[in-house]
Amino acid sequence: MRLSDETLLDIMARFQAEMQKGLGKDTNPTASVKMLPTFVRAIPDGSENGEFLSLDLGGSKFRVLKVQVSEEGKRNVQMESQFYPTPNEIIRGNGTELFEYVADCLADFMRTKELMQKKLPLGLTFSFPCKQTKLEEGVLLSWTKKFKARGVQGTDVVSSLTNAMRKHKQDLDVDILALVNDTVGTMMTCAYDDPYCEVGVIIGTGTNACYMEDMSNIELVEGDEGRMCINTEWGAFGDDGALEDIRTEFDRELDLGSLNPGKQLFEKMISGLYLGELVRLILLKMAKAGLLFGGEKSSALHIKGKIETRHVAAMEKYKEGLANTREILTDLGLEASEADCVAVQHVCTVVSFRSANLCAAALAAILTRLRENKKLVRLRTTVGMDGTLYKIHPQYPKRLHKVVRKLVPNCDVRFLLSESGSTKGAAMVTAVASRVQAQRKQIDKVLALFRLTREQLVGVRDKMRVELEYGLKRDTHPLATVKMLPTYVCGMPDGTEKGKFLALDLGGTNFRVLLVKIRSGRRSVRMYNKIFAIPLEIMQGTGEEVNAGQGVPRSEVPACHPIQCRPGMTAALSLQLFDHIVQCIADFLDYMGLKGAQLPLGFTFSFPCRQASIDKGTLIEWTKGFKATDCEGEDVVDMLREAIKRRNEFDLDIVAVVNDTVGTMMTCGYEDRNCEVGLIAGTGSNMCYMEEMRNIELVEGDEGKMCINTEWGGFGDNGCLDDIRTQYDKEVDEGSLNPGKQRYEKMTSGMYLGEIVRQILIDLTKQGLLFRGQISERLRTRGIFETKFLSQIESDRLALLQVRRILQQLGLDSTCEDSIVVKEVCGAVSRRAAELYGAGLAAIVEKRREDQGFEHLKITVGVDGTLYKLHPHFSRILQETVKELAPRCDVTFMLSEDGSGKGAALITAVAKRLQQARRENVKREQKLRSIQPQDEEALIAREPCRKLFMLKC
Ligand code: BG6
Ligand code: BG6
Ligand code: GLC
Ligand code: GLC
Repeated sequence: MRLSDETLLDIMARFQAEMQKGLGKDTNPTASVKMLPTFVRAIPDGSENGEFLSLDLGGSKFRVLKVQVSEEGKRNVQMESQFYPTPNEIIRGNGTELFEYVADCLADFMRTKELMQKKLPLGLTFSFPCKQTKLEEGVLLSWTKKFKARGVQGTDVVSSLTNAMRKHKQDLDVDILALVNDTVGTMMTCAYDDPYCEVGVIIGTGTNACYMEDMSNIELVEGDEGRMCINTEWGAFGDDGALEDIRTEFDRELDLGSLNPGKQLFEKMISGLYLGELVRLILLKMAKAGLLFGGEKSSALHIKGKIETRHVAAMEKYKEGLANTREILTDLGLEASEADCVAVQHVCTVVSFRSANLCAAALAAILTRLRENKKLVRLRTTVGMDGTLYKIHPQYPKRLHKVVRKLVPNCDVRFLLSESGSTKGAAMVTAVASRVQAQRKQIDKVLALFRLTREQLVGVRDKMRVELEYGLKRDTHPLATVKMLPTYVCGMPDGTEKGKFLALDLGGTNFRVLLVKIRSGRRSVRMYNKIFAIPLEIMQGTGEEVNAGQGVPRSEVPACHPIQCRPGMTAALSLQLFDHIVQCIADFLDYMGLKGAQLPLGFTFSFPCRQASIDKGTLIEWTKGFKATDCEGEDVVDMLREAIKRRNEFDLDIVAVVNDTVGTMMTCGYEDRNCEVGLIAGTGSNMCYMEEMRNIELVEGDEGKMCINTEWGGFGDNGCLDDIRTQYDKEVDEGSLNPGKQRYEKMTSGMYLGEIVRQILIDLTKQGLLFRGQISERLRTRGIFETKFLSQIESDRLALLQVRRILQQLGLDSTCEDSIVVKEVCGAVSRRAAELYGAGLAAIVEKRREDQGFEHLKITVGVDGTLYKLHPHFSRILQETVKELAPRCDVTFMLSEDGSGKGAALITAVAKRLQQARRENVKREQKLRSIQPQDEEALIAREPCRKLFMLKC
């Protein structure tokens, strides 16, 4: 049992390797030293306060306590406690009864201390190996020491105790906020007095240690910043055979007779529960061999547990030790000579010294790890100590300290005895948990604002339905917020479309110029496109420089010409915008080798336009990120034509102007004739659908259908959504380019979701719940959360660390806890958006079902937009909501892979065909009636067919 320094260094090295094994994700399952994360992240900082209950179960004594942690700064802790017995029939009986007993003791304590009316948080010191995934949960891995209650292993002890407390519903109103191991409680107790304390060691009934490990080394827990306390459970060191060379026959015999053979082999060589027994087994062997007591063996020496650690401690006492030994041996019925007493004392010393040596070796390994983690040549640290063996054995502490210092000469270690047990520390952990819980409640309160009940969603659906009808009726249309704009698109492509077309796609995330080649018959479309940037100063007409991070920096914008204006005139911003567009077209034609080509053009213009025909569209007002002046109230086709004229380089035939929803519906309708709805969930939010002509009072005629661009983004602008709008929605609205407008869009679309998130984060930070209460400049920057970031943050596949990295990329210096909250906020905001979309869409499909008098409706919705395409959950939630709110509609969602440019080209193809047919008709009529050629245009304009643009003619 005597271990040389060399052996101790070897054991130390072995334990270092065990720790590494326990910390590794892949190696942990087979590691005997489990290195359990405790979710205790920091040592006390003195700001903890409040009144707490505490249970201390698993050491030699079971205690219930009330702990009062004083006001900030005073570092004053008052405790009242009561010990309760732990009879064997309870700790080795039925698990449920054990927890009921613990709850009974707690109830008794509350009664005695007159605490019945108080709701107090509770910290549970539970001194057994528990696997934790959070602070307030712990699954018992195995009983150790004297405990062996049935049915507890593999279950969460916090839930079991909570359940047991339900029996005392009237007396107990207690929330278990923290589960801590006794080593952790000890470390925290000592750290309250000495901030250098970062290790906790118990040498009592059992033995164990915990220490603060760098998060980056704990592979079992996400996150890499800061530290977390690891409960090593070093008692199990050697359970895989790693210590067989130093285990003796006495260790093996003791193990066989224990409650948990083969387990806790290191603990069985060290701790108080086993030390006396080891001495007994040695004495028995010596007596049997005739080396002691004149060869006599008393029957007492045969009894397991007859020699206890307190006897060993007494026998080793300085001065009185020998007398104590005699007395103890006499009590055991042994007649001991002077030499026997010295020999027995010697046995005790050897056994207890080995214990101290082994502890020292393992502790030295921990200290070395700490020093290496900190990359220090010399470590100054404090170890919090507790446990009866350490406390009552007269030589133990000195021996331990000496050996540790010998093994790690480059560590200055202070050993600090925890006078008040582990409870004070457990109360500190509970105090922090309680603060976290209070903060959590504040966060939940904010998130709850975004949780819509089914009733609320039904309400949204029904209100949307009312608004749709309003927009369609002649009388109510002027005041309608959902504008229900006729598009003059009256049918789906039929596959006969063909030709080469140019298309523009303006208003989504990207501005594109496209060349679309449609081949008839085969329904095959080839597209070539180029993305161009629109500088912010042109888009928003601010004329200001582009700020870093906002919009597209000038350097990234494809080379653009100086704006052409006549001498002495300043170009209006509308001119700037349309001249810029024409410049991009010129670039594109150049790039495609089509310079000078005269092609028909379809213009996807994703803003609300009042149309009087397919090729006329008066911009009602800008939405989303556009605000170029002098455009509202103007015909966008005219503006584009004029810009082309100004450039005077090529001629283009602008045949159609379409909204992106309409383009999307057409793109999808080319593949699926059931597609009668177009939905955009992107930068903006909008929907179009095929409506019965008889319902469209603004357009003459009752036959057939026409596509209506709902412009549902304006839903709620009359205040009808105010019951679900939050302060954050209002803030986003106020900071937008169009305050008071597009309220539904601002609650649902990509451009604004990030802004809502940002507003919530600012508020949570102001409340001290995020980013350490510091609102950074970056967080103040509008538009930092683009849809793509929101989508990335919410991806399930993303580990927390990656979320943190995204936030860091965005300039937000977040902790892992912050990242969790940010992810939750994003989730709440995007879920609400998807649900609101679902409610809106349900209104439309239900209307279509009812209008057609169908019991069930089968309909396809063509969808586009970055939010729908990139967000990991948006499409699913949207679809689920529609199903829930329009159960009689079977809605198929079809993603538009090709964008709305293809749809716009298809519309252009048909429009062009009709245009030519009509021109020929007019010419024929002209001949017949000999009308003057100059009246030709007027005649075409009056032609009623031109107004009722039918794709299927
Ligand atoms: C006490 C702590 O002081 O020491 C307990 O409060 C801990 O939490 C115990 O379990 C360990 O020592 P022993 O000797 O009682 O097992
Ligand atoms: C594109 C369409 O695919 O999606 C555009 O071609 C449309 O017309 C856009 O405006 C909508 O999505 P986002 O996310 O780019 O606004
Ligand atoms: C046992 C337990 C451990 C505890 C130690 C000291 O080893 O498994 O959790 O810390 O005893 O009480
Ligand atoms: C905005 C526009 C609308 C467009 C939608 C999607 O809501 O007003 O016309 O369809 O964004 O891009």
